[in-house]
Amino acid sequence: RVDMWIDCDPGHDDCFGLTLACYPPPPIAVNLLGVSTVHGNQTVDKTAGNALNWLHACGVEDVDVYRGQAAPLVRKAAICPEIHGESGLDGFAFPQPHKGVRTEKAVMAMADRIMGNEGKVTIAATGCLTNIALLLTLFPEVKPQVDRIVMMGGAMGLGNTGPVMEWNIQIDPEAAHIVFESGLDVWMVPLEVTHKALLTQEHLQTIKQMGGPFSSCCVSLLTFFSSTYSRVFAFDQPPLHDPCAMWCAISKGKGFTHKKIRVDIEMASSLTAGQTVCDFFNLTHKTPNVQVCTDMDLQEFWRVMLEAVRRAAER
Ligand code: BDR
Ligand code: CA
Repeated sequence: RVDMWIDCDPGHDDCFGLTLACYPPPPIAVNLLGVSTVHGNQTVDKTAGNALNWLHACGVEDVDVYRGQAAPLVRKAAICPEIHGESGLDGFAFPQPHKGVRTEKAVMAMADRIMGNEGKVTIAATGCLTNIALLLTLFPEVKPQVDRIVMMGGAMGLGNTGPVMEWNIQIDPEAAHIVFESGLDVWMVPLEVTHKALLTQEHLQTIKQMGGPFSSCCVSLLTFFSSTYSRVFAFDQPPLHDPCAMWCAISKGKGFTHKKIRVDIEMASSLTAGQTVCDFFNLTHKTPNVQVCTDMDLQEFWRVMLEAVRRAAER
């Protein structure tokens, strides 16, 4: 069993990561302590509302959602409506907004629940790292209680929202720097892996055939996500980035090819701020600080992902 906290910015692909954590096929088991949201794909108010709407659509009512930071540590906030729409979750009309975002600040709730948990906790991050950087800065005493931090983000080579920058790192490089320097067991699932997890027509058909309201909600959202990915990135099929990191967190890296290397975050350059500089050959002679995933067992990923959606649809 994995005791887990999820920090996210839903966001279409974040939602499927949440579903994977809520409905993993047995014998896999996740004890979800809470969900916090962060600015990113949309404003933090919208991502918090989306997380609640989505959990409700999945039939999950016993997981609390907390609103985190509205802006990066140092820089100006940016949002990504070109991919996720004005709501952050366009493509399906949720009965808006599902009420009940907790009033406690996300960072306080994370510190409290992680410290109060009997066993060590895995933090799965599928948005930028502002909340987590703040958590580690304000409450360094949580560190011994953190089993690992698994995040979707970064790139070994080409980026998606900058030539060599991936969105989650690009929008708050200083936060990523704090997390990568934390000394914790940090896992990075970069674009080179997530760009392999492409949602095919067959996957969409499988979800459609599950039937029922949750299945049609998934199909509508994924169809929207497909259309923005094809318009903005000319992708025939959209990548489900965030569930890859979620799967890595749940499987504890099983099924992933990974290597602990030195990764530094570029923060100074106006051209490449947010680049994850991956030193595969240890040319810098610095101590390795991040487990970088370079590949994933795709077949196993899609098996658990689709099974989780089926379990949510058939509940
Ligand atoms: C990441 O950016 C967001 O738009 C997605 O939800 C994902 O976390 C991909 O670069
Ligand atoms: Ca995300």
